[in-house]
Amino acid sequence: MVNKKIYILAIESSCDDTSAAILCNTKVLSNVVATQEIHKQYGGVVPELASRAHQQNIVPVVHQALAKANIDKKQLSAIAFTRGPGLMGSLLVGASFAKSLSLGLNIPLIEVNHMEAHILAHFIDDESMTVPEFPFLGMTISGGHTQIVRVNNYFDMEVLGETLDDAVGEAFDKSAKLMGLPYPGGPLVDKNAQLGNPRAFDFPKPKVEGLNFSFSGLKTSILYFLQRETKKNPDFVAENINDICASVQYTILEILMDKLKLAVKQTGIQQIAIGGGVAANSGIRERLKEAEETLGWKTYIPKFQYCTDNAAMIGIVGYLKFLEKQFTDQSVGAKARYAIGS
Ligand code: KG4
Ligand code: ZN
Repeated sequence: MVNKKIYILAIESSCDDTSAAILCNTKVLSNVVATQEIHKQYGGVVPELASRAHQQNIVPVVHQALAKANIDKKQLSAIAFTRGPGLMGSLLVGASFAKSLSLGLNIPLIEVNHMEAHILAHFIDDESMTVPEFPFLGMTISGGHTQIVRVNNYFDMEVLGETLDDAVGEAFDKSAKLMGLPYPGGPLVDKNAQLGNPRAFDFPKPKVEGLNFSFSGLKTSILYFLQRETKKNPDFVAENINDICASVQYTILEILMDKLKLAVKQTGIQQIAIGGGVAANSGIRERLKEAEETLGWKTYIPKFQYCTDNAAMIGIVGYLKFLEKQFTDQSVGAKARYAIGS
């Protein structure tokens, strides 16, 4: 079985990226992502528009993935798709497409949990990536998720903590919006932060027990801070943008690092594998590198295209499930709320 070439077509449509990938065993042959630009003008994802854009994108994206991989659909061994969690209207497009194609081609259908996929993306065979050893701690940080997971094996994971309100990417984006930066503001906060003083302004860290997170209070304290300061000086934001960004980013990274340190302390596991769009942040990368040197951690960050929402990560789970014959039937439905391990 292991020597055989398994070709998986994977489909991801949980939020605002329509993506299709072809994997041959653990290698990615193609990974096409159509990012929906329409949401930019609204400052966040509009579910109805996302669903409609998925419907427009899915056929061309799958065609492109097959063409780029130079694979005919008759060669496919199975189809993997994101069952959840995510926006119902978006998930339904990918799920319906995957179900119909698997029926038409008479090949197995594999359902994938999007959050497990963010973590198992680390097992994609790519020369620039090192595969973590079990057990490790997975931390998924993006515009939609903030989660710390104990990963004992491919399909033996336990959520240790998650956000009680906003995701960490949302904290970046909403703070950026308050400063008048365009959506999604995370990368701009990062860019400005590199030129600013992280200790210029103090923002309170939330007091949340255990390994759960909360970011909504930070957003409110930034709002009040900016209102107070701009009353005194209407140009406050423009004159201090780098220092504000650096201070906001510093606070967010402190929150993440505090929780990671606690998770390491509680589990004794020092291998940390992060994923999600916020893994692109230069500050978190620095902090993790520092932790390798000062705390003896071993840290892993996948290539950026496997951090953000993408179908290749769905494909690697598809391949691992294919080996275990974990198939699903046509009665499967999309699942907007879908906890890891449920
Ligand atoms: O994984 P992703 O592409 O989509 C989901 O949200 O699922 O993550 C996007 C999020 C956005 O909130 C964006 O602002 C944030 O990741 N992001 C960053 C950076 N690059 C992307 N946040 C901080 N620093 C960055 N360099
Ligand atoms: Zn995601």
